Amino acid sequence: MLVMKAHPVNTTQSGAFRFSPIDDPLWRIEEEGFNLAREHEIESLFAVSNGYVGSRASLAEGSPLSNPATFIAGVYDTNSSAQGDPVPELAVAPDWMRLTLLAGEREFRLEDGGYLWHRRTIDLRHGILWREFDYSAPNGGLIQVRACRLASLADRHVLFQCVQIKAESRVPGIHLRASTESGIEQPDQARLISESCPPLDTGDDAANLLEFCTRSTRIKVAIATAGRLRIDGTVIPPNLERLPGRRIESWEFDIEAGKTYRFDRLVVIYTSRDTEQPTTVAAQHLRRLLRVDADEVIDAHARAWNERWRESDIEIEGDESLQKAVRFACYHLISAANPEDERVSVGARALTGSAYKGHVFWDTELFMLPFYIFTHPPSARALLMYRYHTLPAARRKAQRLGYSGALYAWESTDTGEEVTPGYAVSPDGDIKPILNGVWEHHISADIAYAVWQYWQATGDEGFIQHAGAEILFETARFWASRGLLEDDGCYHIREVIGPDEYHEGVDDNAFTNVMAQWNLECAAEAARLLAERWPDRWQELMHRLELGADEPEIWRDLAQRMYTGFNPETGLFEQFKGYFDLEEIDIAEYGPHAMPLDVILGRERTQLSKIVKQADVVMLLHLFWDRFAPETCEANFRYYETRTTHGSSLSPSIHAAVAARLRDTDTALRYFRQAAEIDLANNMGNAAGGVHAAALGGLWQAVIFGFAGLRLLPDGLGFAPHCPPQLRALRFPLIWRGIRLRVELRPDTMEVAAESGGALTVQIGNGEPARLTPGRRIRWKRGEGVEVWKEVSS
Ligand code: BGC
Repeated sequence: MLVMKAHPVNTTQSGAFRFSPIDDPLWRIEEEGFNLAREHEIESLFAVSNGYVGSRASLAEGSPLSNPATFIAGVYDTNSSAQGDPVPELAVAPDWMRLTLLAGEREFRLEDGGYLWHRRTIDLRHGILWREFDYSAPNGGLIQVRACRLASLADRHVLFQCVQIKAESRVPGIHLRASTESGIEQPDQARLISESCPPLDTGDDAANLLEFCTRSTRIKVAIATAGRLRIDGTVIPPNLERLPGRRIESWEFDIEAGKTYRFDRLVVIYTSRDTEQPTTVAAQHLRRLLRVDADEVIDAHARAWNERWRESDIEIEGDESLQKAVRFACYHLISAANPEDERVSVGARALTGSAYKGHVFWDTELFMLPFYIFTHPPSARALLMYRYHTLPAARRKAQRLGYSGALYAWESTDTGEEVTPGYAVSPDGDIKPILNGVWEHHISADIAYAVWQYWQATGDEGFIQHAGAEILFETARFWASRGLLEDDGCYHIREVIGPDEYHEGVDDNAFTNVMAQWNLECAAEAARLLAERWPDRWQELMHRLELGADEPEIWRDLAQRMYTGFNPETGLFEQFKGYFDLEEIDIAEYGPHAMPLDVILGRERTQLSKIVKQADVVMLLHLFWDRFAPETCEANFRYYETRTTHGSSLSPSIHAAVAARLRDTDTALRYFRQAAEIDLANNMGNAAGGVHAAALGGLWQAVIFGFAGLRLLPDGLGFAPHCPPQLRALRFPLIWRGIRLRVELRPDTMEVAAESGGALTVQIGNGEPARLTPGRRIRWKRGEGVEVWKEVSS
């Protein structure tokens, strides 16, 4: 159960904090001092979010580099002032956390010095961003400031900020200003524009209601805020200033030694995506909240986090930095998704930054979704339902390009329409066309893969019948129209971009073709299943989608004839037709390089070389481990690994997962560390744009599919454990078809316990499958041979 540290001061009388950041260093990510150059990165890493709304961790008082931004999922707009070819992007909502503190004439700013120490901490366990510092006032008095901020996981429309000030001796002339500001429109950002500030009657002087709107998509956003200052528990009325799009409350007071000055700000957000009356609903919600103690908001939020951690925490013994990295990953994944909204998905940088404009890619289905499937199925379902609701846009895209069925957008927003920008300016100043929106088609099969994985792992019959099957059929139809049966009798898919985006417009990309093959087979299987188990639904779908009775057979046939580029003699997949003839470049010769290798080599030379941007054939191994012979996995990993530059953050974790299953735990651990450092050590240099949500999902997969070797069996779960000896133990929970499991993995032992739900089969390595029932725990020991595990107790 959650333990909150009690503050020594009597809370009810003084109003002082009952909370403080968690002590356990394995649950904290900290930034000590202040380094202006790192500010944008810290803003991303320390962001608070709940999948509905996310705020970057900008300093409340600002700094020369602060770029405060709050994003609301689904609130996209087109930035009309952007140059060139603007595409929709997440609009920046007003800065609700702005605070200015003056002592005498001097405004507190970190860059001016004057602070004795300064620390920011994310308390991962409770989902709270803390800030603590001591600051020397102009009269020499020492002011202690403790502040926290959260986006409530218990009540997703609520944001909360709290600041406590104390001093050891009197400090006169304090001026505290709290404002909500729409901010200055910047050329590279879409911002909500202020519409009006209707009155808000809460009986509370410092409550405000502000209405905003997106410029082109006309989404209304209502923000209700209430700031309150208490001195030793007594509420002090503010001075109010109301300007268009801006509200300022301020208080002037002298700090007396030993007294507690506490500022709380509650913020409630609703949009016209949630309700027809966002303003009224936001006001009502705020009124309700003001009736309860503000600490209850923190308590409820911390309880919600506690619940999520019970279902998702991975414990790693033996390496503290990896332990923290994995918790950091889960923290941002939990923060990213909203199970209550099936009309949005998670963007490449979630709600933590503006890189990729909040656009949704295959990142969600193949990198993040497994985390939700096995820890919080309602989140996974909502994300897949987003794909169901955007099927009409995917059908339109297929049709526009002359195909049947559904071709999902490579990049999408809430509408599902294709929003990949038409071009980008490359680091050398060249205008480079972006062709992914036209050619990167594997996303349709990636989504189908996720649908099937979700269905297999959760057994959610309602989903497969009512949404999943339709996605599978429509994507299969797309593949059946996308390729051509050629003279060699094989089905070829020409002119695509595979995951390795360095090579554009290639023919027969192995990843795309194998994924398409699988999509076709799987849709045929879903058709069989529906016809057998839910014949009425099957009839209804056949009728509505005008599915021919022979289509599933055609899908099976095309799948069988799919050209995959696999050569049985070498055991290698050719990444695409002609790849083996390209120039061989020895990556190792370039040593560690700050610039991506494709930039060093130039676009043209890269395209004519075997240099690979990210896991492509290796991604196939990851997704279809059981379909390939162990020698095939080994041969392809070794071949492609040495040619991959990891120019995408999606790559290292997948290499870690595959290397672990190949029992090469040293290589696995090296890639695992590289993946862990993408955000935490900013090792790709672009964390300022937001955390790399797919890489964080990949980190989770490297543990679960890599080190633990999880795989789905028809009636349970299999594990092929390869725990690196450096990690003494791995412990994690999983949910499979409603059954909650706890797994413990050590280099030579394995334990699985079923907490609740029904029975399932568990198989470790090639050992005898065991039947696990609720309340039971089974222990296995590694035997003599590879993958030989013996049950030792239950
Ligand atoms: C990668 C894509 C990825 C996108 C968004 C690109 O650099 O190559 O695979 O979907 O970033 O994360």
